[in-house]
Amino acid sequence: MLRVEGVRKLYGDFCALEEVSLEIQAGEFVSIIGPNGAGKTTLINVVTGLLKPTSGTVHFKDRDIRGIGPVRLAKLGMARSFQLVTIFPELSVLEAIQVAIVSRLGRGTRLFHALAADREVRDQALEVAELFGLQDKRDARARQLPQGDKKLLDVASAFALRPECILLDEPTSGVSTAEKNTIMQIVVQASKRMGIRSIIQVEHDMDIVFGYSDRIVALHQGKVLADASPAEIQADEQVMSMVVGRPTH
Ligand SMILES: Nc1ncnc2c1ncn2[C@@H]1O[C@H](COP(=O)(O)OP(=O)(O)O)[C@@H](O)[C@H]1O
Ligand SMILES: [Mg+2]
Repeated sequence: MLRVEGVRKLYGDFCALEEVSLEIQAGEFVSIIGPNGAGKTTLINVVTGLLKPTSGTVHFKDRDIRGIGPVRLAKLGMARSFQLVTIFPELSVLEAIQVAIVSRLGRGTRLFHALAADREVRDQALEVAELFGLQDKRDARARQLPQGDKKLLDVASAFALRPECILLDEPTSGVSTAEKNTIMQIVVQASKRMGIRSIIQVEHDMDIVFGYSDRIVALHQGKVLADASPAEIQADEQVMSMVVGRPTH
């Protein structure tokens, strides 16, 4: 589904990604891990067409998506979380999901207040809110939600684009361990219900990474240090100490 080959990304003289290659198949849940500064965000930005690699190629469903930008990428079937909660804190839960749906349907030129009357958009937004357990909070302002619901709303907005492949940047950051698992269970369930085929996440919580991934890509100083199953990563002392910052138990 996604193929990254020999990608380098320079910021001036500084090499943030060096010869990065990886493939994501349909049906996979892949976590990208690595210490601060490893190049995770740069990789996500390159893979979602936001940043052009200095060299190397990025293909999604056999199309070159280098520098394509989020709107065209969403049309091809790939989406990332928007962090709408941060961008539009005054929107209600339902409005935030509607914004995402409208961008998918290409109805961005309509006035926002006309949206409420748009039955199709509203019905779809309600369906997504329900899948994420946010239906009872649909009229609450995004900024007033508890942190766990804010994270769910961010993820729900990306799901509302109905992509085949979704990228989540730290979907569970800033919430308790119990809430992290609830969020991940909802993400997995909703992706099955909505027909999302591949999930790629950047995640720091190793219990979540080991608990939900089919495969883990470990980055270190801009290079892929390991690309393996959770069991293989856990058994690899070098990767565990370099990337996770703690030895195997
Ligand atoms: N726009 C930029 N200009 C210069 N250096 C950058 C820029 N963005 C990131 N970097 C540097 O590239 C490296 C990788 O950053 P980043 O991809 O954000 O890593 P991560 O998300 O793994 O913490 C870091 O050393 C960071 O300081
Ligand atoms: Mg980052």
